[in-house]
Amino acid sequence: MTDTTSVGLDLLTENLERIASEIDTLFDSLMPVPDDKHARLVDAMRYAAIGGGKRVRPLLLVATAEMYGVHRDSALRAACAAEAIHVYSLIHDDLPCMDDDDVRHGKPTVHKAFDEATAVLAGDSLHALAFSILSDSKTSGDPFVRSELVQTLAMASGSNGMAGGQMIDMLAGVENFDLHTITRLQQLKTGALLGAAVEMGAILGHVPPDGRVHLRAYARDLGLAFQIADDLLDHEGDEEKAGKALRKDNAQGKQTFVSLLGADRAREQAKILVKQAVEHLVSHGEEGELLRVLARYIVEREY
Ligand code: IPE
Ligand code: IPE
Ligand code: MG
Ligand code: MG
Ligand code: MG
Repeated sequence: MTDTTSVGLDLLTENLERIASEIDTLFDSLMPVPDDKHARLVDAMRYAAIGGGKRVRPLLLVATAEMYGVHRDSALRAACAAEAIHVYSLIHDDLPCMDDDDVRHGKPTVHKAFDEATAVLAGDSLHALAFSILSDSKTSGDPFVRSELVQTLAMASGSNGMAGGQMIDMLAGVENFDLHTITRLQQLKTGALLGAAVEMGAILGHVPPDGRVHLRAYARDLGLAFQIADDLLDHEGDEEKAGKALRKDNAQGKQTFVSLLGADRAREQAKILVKQAVEHLVSHGEEGELLRVLARYIVEREY
């Protein structure tokens, strides 16, 4: 089993750099700036989507798809759709009515650089863009695959996924929750979309649902570990490296794994979850290596 040292780190760095550049190029071509009054909206979408973020969801999707021999161009389009949902969720998450943040990816948040109405509309439009990408035959020539991709991303984004998790997160600032509810919150807010990314890679690879059980288990453990890492970063990370304001969860009275368990136990929990995630990939040989290394990176990352 490879560690994120030496070979693992090279594999990871190389793939993170490659995907970042591919996603930027694809977003650039998917969002041409129109020569009319709504150019401002597309400028805001581009401002949020291009040139920032670790691109973890795209890499999860492409790495999974690659295990099943999917053409990279198809996987990249689906990856862009998942990332468009993620970027929209961040634009809205930063709004004054939600986390009220001024900095994201080391630059002013969209509502600061533009204005609140533009930020809401840019989020809305990225949401729509995601489904427009997936329903296009360039993503897959198979209408059943397209439809399953749309269904999977829709479920992960809406009230039973990311948006539902954001709802509980808002309440986590005003109500007292137990560990079970915080786990549910994180599974929806963060886990659902990370899980969808893995699942969409498998859908493109024509893997039937019962062949995806181990991938879902991998994504579930990884999703929880990812959010614990985000909460730990908020608690003790470096703002410069994170490119966003930290120490906000506590200041906003938000309950997280860290507030409930304490940083040390939360860190332990994240490590256990990553180990479990990797164990779910036991049926994969060398082709599963990128997913293994990615899981480790998720708790070791500094931003
Ligand atoms: C941050 O997600 C928000 C959460 C869901 C925890 P990421 O840490 O993936 O954000 P970027 O895109 O890399 O900035
Ligand atoms: C955001 O979670 C989750 C979504 C946008 C769905 P956080 O509020 O913890 O993310 P950061 O810390 O602002 O990146
Ligand atoms: Mg939030
Ligand atoms: Mg936030
Ligand atoms: Mg956070």
